[in-house]
Amino acid sequence: MREKLLRLVPELEWIKDNGLREKVISTWVEALRRGGWEPEDMLNLPFTLLLGDSPSSFLEHIRAVVRMTKHAIDVIREIYRDRVELNEDYLMAGALLHDVGKLMEYELKDGRYVQTKIGGTLRHPFIGAALAYLNGLPSEIVHIIAFHSHEGDHINRSLEAMIVNKVDLLNFELFKAKGEVTSAGQNRSGKDSVKQAW
Ligand SMILES: [Fe+2]
Repeated sequence: MREKLLRLVPELEWIKDNGLREKVISTWVEALRRGGWEPEDMLNLPFTLLLGDSPSSFLEHIRAVVRMTKHAIDVIREIYRDRVELNEDYLMAGALLHDVGKLMEYELKDGRYVQTKIGGTLRHPFIGAALAYLNGLPSEIVHIIAFHSHEGDHINRSLEAMIVNKVDLLNFELFKAKGEVTSAGQNRSGKDSVKQAW
């Protein structure tokens, strides 16, 4: 599972600290196992249930968010240099793991991707935060995962969490701007607004 994951998400190698990278990988492996997925299932899994016929896969979404985050780091370093304080490894780890909880939030039932019971109760930010905590990741990274989505709108996000929040939202808006938001992503409480469920 580990090798397949590294082939599909080569950006995992961008985390410089070996110990941190291993914890990020073990969090991914645990999420895949608990969700009952093989790594290649991420090629078909939709990145959201809100936009009808999956305009992008979960795997594409993760890689796009991670790569855009890396570009943001590179531009910040090139232009602002040391005037912006960032923990680059924590930011990369947070970008890589921000949606890992979706592997337990979604399931394939009767040929359709739907929300699981725990997904409807906790959503992926808190599921992912719990998995990251259990795998020994530092609280700064758990914070990025927990608050990258609207759950973090009323707290003071760290700069790293703020960057993941903006890049993630941009990657949603790219497709939302093109098409209709559908009710396909209705959660168990019946609420399906973009704000509520992105
Ligand atoms: Fe995301």
